[in-house]
Amino acid sequence: MHMGDPANIIEQPVQQPDTDLNTLLKDITALEALVNDWDEQQQQTVHALQRASDALHKEAISRLIKAVKQVPEAMTALKSIVGDEVVYAVLRHLEVIRPSLHERVEQALESVRPYLESHGGNVELVNISPPDTVTIRLLGACDGCPASGLTLSEGVEKAIHQYCPEITTIEKAKGGMSAKPVSNTTDGVPVHFVSPFANSADAGWEYAALLQDIPEKNIKVLTVAGNEILLSRFANKVTCYQNACAHLGMPLDMGEVRDGILICPHHAFEYSLESGECLTAPEVQLQTHAVRVIGDKVEIKFL
Ligand code: FES
Repeated sequence: MHMGDPANIIEQPVQQPDTDLNTLLKDITALEALVNDWDEQQQQTVHALQRASDALHKEAISRLIKAVKQVPEAMTALKSIVGDEVVYAVLRHLEVIRPSLHERVEQALESVRPYLESHGGNVELVNISPPDTVTIRLLGACDGCPASGLTLSEGVEKAIHQYCPEITTIEKAKGGMSAKPVSNTTDGVPVHFVSPFANSADAGWEYAALLQDIPEKNIKVLTVAGNEILLSRFANKVTCYQNACAHLGMPLDMGEVRDGILICPHHAFEYSLESGECLTAPEVQLQTHAVRVIGDKVEIKFL
C-alpha cells in the first residue's frame, strides 16, 4: 500500500442523499443477529475482530481530526459535518467524541426511571440551556407529591450530576400529569395515600396519628419511634418531616404557620409544608419521612 500521496485518494461514488443511518445499519444489524446464533467461541472471534477493526478506525480518525484541528477553516467544516447523523453515529460508536449533553441528560433520566416508574411516576427533559442548566418535569405520582422535592434532589439530581458534571442548575417545571391515586389495600383496608418513594407493602411502618387529628395546612408535632416529627395534611395527603430546620438543624415546631408555609422561629427560613421545599434557600429541603394512610390511620416509616 502506498501511503501519504494525495494522488492515491480514490474518488468515492457519491452517496445517495436519501441513504439514512437506519438503512446503512440494516446489514450490520442483520449480520449481528446471525452471529448471535453462533457458538460462544465463534462469537468471541467475531467480537475480537470488531474490536480490532474499531481500534484501527478510531486511531485513523483521531489522527485525521488532530491534523484538521491545525487548520482553523477546516475546523469549521469539521464541526458542521459532525452534525450529520451518519458521521455522528460512527464517531460516537468509535468513542472519538463524547456523548452530547442532551444524550447524557437522557441517560441520567433513564437510569432513575425504573425507580420512579415503580412508584407510578416518571420524569421528562423539558429544556437544556447550555452550558450548565437543565429543566425537567416530574410526571405522574412524582408531580406535586409531598416528597417530590426529595425524589428530585436524591434521585434525579444525583443522576444528572453524575452523568453531566457541568450541570450546576436543575430547574423543575410545573404541570406534569395529575398524581395517580394509590388504590392498593393492606389487610383489606384501603391505602388512601403513600409517599411515592416508599412501598406500602414494606415492613417497619409505625402508627403516628389519626388522619382527622392532623390539621390541614398546619402542623402536628409528635414523637414516633424516638423521632420528633411534624405532620401536615393536604386533603388526604399527609406529609411528614423531621422537626429540624435545614439551616442549622434547630427545632421548627414553635414556628409560625401561614397557609401551609412554616416559618422557622430562629432565622425565618420558610418551608412549604406540602413539598418540604425551602422557599428561602431553594437548594435545601426538610428531611422527609415516608407516610401511608390506611383508612383513617397515618403511619410513618423511618428510612
Ligand atoms: S435554624 Fe432555621 S432558619 Fe436558621
